[in-house]
Amino acid sequence: MTTLKHFLQLKDFSADEIAYVFERTKIIKDRFKRYERYHPLSDRTLLMIFEKASTRTRLSFEAGMQQLGGAAIYLNTRDSQLGRGEPVGDAAQVMSRMCDIVMIRTFEQSMVENFAANSRVPVINGLTNEYHPCQILADIYTFFEQRGSIKGRTVAWIGDSNNVCNTWLQAAEVLDFTVHVSTPPEYRVEPERAGLYGTDCFEEFDDPMQACKGADLVTTDVWTSMGFEAENAERREAFADWCVDADMMRVAAPDALFMHCLPAHRGEEVTAEVIDGPQSVVWDEAENRLHVQKALLEYLLLGRV
Ligand code: CP
Ligand code: NVA
Repeated sequence: MTTLKHFLQLKDFSADEIAYVFERTKIIKDRFKRYERYHPLSDRTLLMIFEKASTRTRLSFEAGMQQLGGAAIYLNTRDSQLGRGEPVGDAAQVMSRMCDIVMIRTFEQSMVENFAANSRVPVINGLTNEYHPCQILADIYTFFEQRGSIKGRTVAWIGDSNNVCNTWLQAAEVLDFTVHVSTPPEYRVEPERAGLYGTDCFEEFDDPMQACKGADLVTTDVWTSMGFEAENAERREAFADWCVDADMMRVAAPDALFMHCLPAHRGEEVTAEVIDGPQSVVWDEAENRLHVQKALLEYLLLGRV
């Protein structure tokens, strides 16, 4: 019997497993572009639980599961008993007897951990306050498509040390690259919350320009993540100097890419000139959510095919 595999944090996968998922991503993406039918997950059902809003994650998982021949069911907090206090463990017991794989977008990481501990089927983290592993898989696949291996490269993270930042840091540990992080002083990385083994994978910079110097990839995200809306006003003030602009891109490597997980706020964390400019790969990055997650669903349900 194979052991149950979840994807709750990026470090749940080894470098070898990520390489395998990327290998499958390329095959699955190429087939999709050729309109070739590929239905390895027929009769399988993906349950998607959303306790926060989403465009890309919902669409890519739902479309992806259908494209693989399976079905996807969307549940949100309002429509399910989870929103009325049914214990997460009880919900997991029931749901995982009816569905073959579960994707959850929620607040605390402990919720997805608790669900997974009570689940008979694989569980995927579709974003928590702490991590966003599917996003970083797609981002690194996008880098790989454009520039080759990320090993030994430098990524500049500008802005909040949020779920997306934490996941970049885990990826740096697993895949052996460096992240230059620049945050306002009161929003620094918390290595324990980021789930890091050490602190070798990243370097902190007070000045975002210094963090961008020579970087192969410059990336950022919203100043206020979902669930932190009450802090919006103070964050807008604190992050005012952490807007990725053309000057930052100019000090990065000449062929540096710009990424943003989206949705973006032009004029806040990034200028329109950068996100709509020639170094930006945000649309490829968003599209790759679909292809990478199809490979992820295939891997978690069927193993190495
Ligand atoms: N990047 C991302 O996860 O987008 P959504 O919030 O639209 O799913
Ligand atoms: N950090 C953002 C990412 C949205 C995809 C958030 O958690 O809201």
